[in-house]
Amino acid sequence: MLDESGAPRSATVMPNPLREGLAEERVPEPAVMVIFGASGDLAHRKLLPALYSLTRDRLLPARFAIVGFARRAISDDTFREEMRAACNEHARRRPIDPALWSAFARNIFYHQGEYEDPAAFVALKQRLADIEKSLGLHGNRVFYLATPPSSFASVIRSLGQAELAPKPPPPGAPKPLGAPPPFARVIIEKPFGSDLETARALNRDVHEALDERQIYRIDHYLGKETVQNLLVFRFANGIFEPIWNNRFVDHVQITGAESIGVEARGGYFEQAGSLRDMVQNHLLQVLSLFAMEPPVAFDPDAVRDEKLKVLKALRYIPASDFEQYVVRAQYAAGSSGGQAVRGYREEANVSPTSTTETFVALKLNIDSWRWAGVPFYVRSGKRLPKRVTEIAVHFKEAPHLLFGRRGDSIRPNVLAIRIQPDEGIALNFGSKLPGPAMEIAPVSMEFRYGSSFGVEPPEAYERLLLDCLLGDMTLFTRADEVEASWAWVSRIHRRWAEDAAQQESGRAVLPTYPAGSWGPAAAEKLMTADGRAWRLP
Ligand code: NDP
Ligand code: BG6
Repeated sequence: MLDESGAPRSATVMPNPLREGLAEERVPEPAVMVIFGASGDLAHRKLLPALYSLTRDRLLPARFAIVGFARRAISDDTFREEMRAACNEHARRRPIDPALWSAFARNIFYHQGEYEDPAAFVALKQRLADIEKSLGLHGNRVFYLATPPSSFASVIRSLGQAELAPKPPPPGAPKPLGAPPPFARVIIEKPFGSDLETARALNRDVHEALDERQIYRIDHYLGKETVQNLLVFRFANGIFEPIWNNRFVDHVQITGAESIGVEARGGYFEQAGSLRDMVQNHLLQVLSLFAMEPPVAFDPDAVRDEKLKVLKALRYIPASDFEQYVVRAQYAAGSSGGQAVRGYREEANVSPTSTTETFVALKLNIDSWRWAGVPFYVRSGKRLPKRVTEIAVHFKEAPHLLFGRRGDSIRPNVLAIRIQPDEGIALNFGSKLPGPAMEIAPVSMEFRYGSSFGVEPPEAYERLLLDCLLGDMTLFTRADEVEASWAWVSRIHRRWAEDAAQQESGRAVLPTYPAGSWGPAAAEKLMTADGRAWRLP
């Protein structure tokens, strides 16, 4: 893989022979990270805590600065104090270490400005130059767009106008003599568009100012250890790949369940719904990693090429049998964790007549040689009984049962990959019960991250921020992947828009489910119609 300067990436991340055989050397070059939206929820809960934890684990370079950008007029010191409180509350390693914090905080700065104001970006450019000069930095920059999605295009335009993020030389251009030019990378938060058209338009805007090699579209699910482990599980072990196909797999279930409701994000969720919020990005990304062909190399484009093929092979849902493939619903009042909770329509900033879905269940088919005939059932919802994300691979039954009635309790094997919480992998199979009779009982063989490794996995944002600083795009989504997943999802939204017109005239009703249940009856029917049932995760 080439970096932005056209040099092989290994030339910028030199292996350290002393660490050979121990762990991968992953310390990036000195840089400054500008966070647009620095006073927001994401910066407080995830970004600054992740950067602090990386510092604590000595994974950031010694010369590293953070510049927060937002509208409020506050001083560097006030911003540092706010970030200290945020890290104390949210960092993986807390409480924070006071000595480490003072060293870390010395290189945190705040810059006041409006996204739409070109002068603010000119001033930012000067501020960055001053900071870089005083800290001996060489101009490597990462810009993190933790802003409302409606501002993504204007921030990128302003970056371009102020020449803050120049495009790298084209691939294959003669290499400059001496040190490679500094990098300028841009991390863009989700949602990347709200349908196919807006995602395409945003890609066009972004590509006017930046080269795709500078763009890091973040999907935090790809930073989760267990999601990455899918690649290791499949491609570092010889025994699974031969059965990872329609000869052995009956169907696959992917569940992304949350027990929380929309919390304080009613305004955002009203415009999104579960299909946009969880499926278009996180769950389709997980599905594409699960189902892709082995890439020719573990490099960003080889991996993303294979994921893209899966997204492009998703069969469009037939208009005639739509209800047999797609179920949506909204939570009504119920209970969560033993407490009575209100329904979605009673949440803050939610319309009392809202038709936004808080639950979706789908049946997908991947039209490929490997997966032809294997349905993938995907469900996601808020206010379900518990928080759990898992992939369950249901294998076909043994071709011939030898044990007559005693074999009644034999169930097809299930490989359950638990993404969160209690991360791990379990294989269920039938075993003989001890005793003289040939009785069979289901048992499970389990691997748990916690007990096997005894360490807490890093936060997804830690991994992804570090990867961006290292210039590793493998776990970031490429423009064509985003468009392919929107192409599939937007057809469902178009169909729902037609249904909404009917609902307004009172002819169709959005189903509900009581908060704390596993969704509406129609989700069960989606499975029973195929002679299957959702697994209780
Ligand atoms: P918030 O609304 O909490 O923060 C928005 C930030 O943008 C604030 O710092 C605000 O600063 C700043 N801002 C807004 N408008 C302007 C403007 N015109 N000029 C300058 N600054 C402005 O959003 P979140 O932190 O929740 O989300 C940020 C992004 O991250 C969104 O794209 C969201 O979809 C995404 N995301 C968030 C998640 C979360 O858990 N919060 C999870 C996954 C993705 P000011 O102080 O000046 O108002
Ligand atoms: C975010 C969604 O992207 O992912 C939220 O906007 C959702 O609605 C969250 O709650 C789930 O992330 P995690 O890591 O808690 O599973």
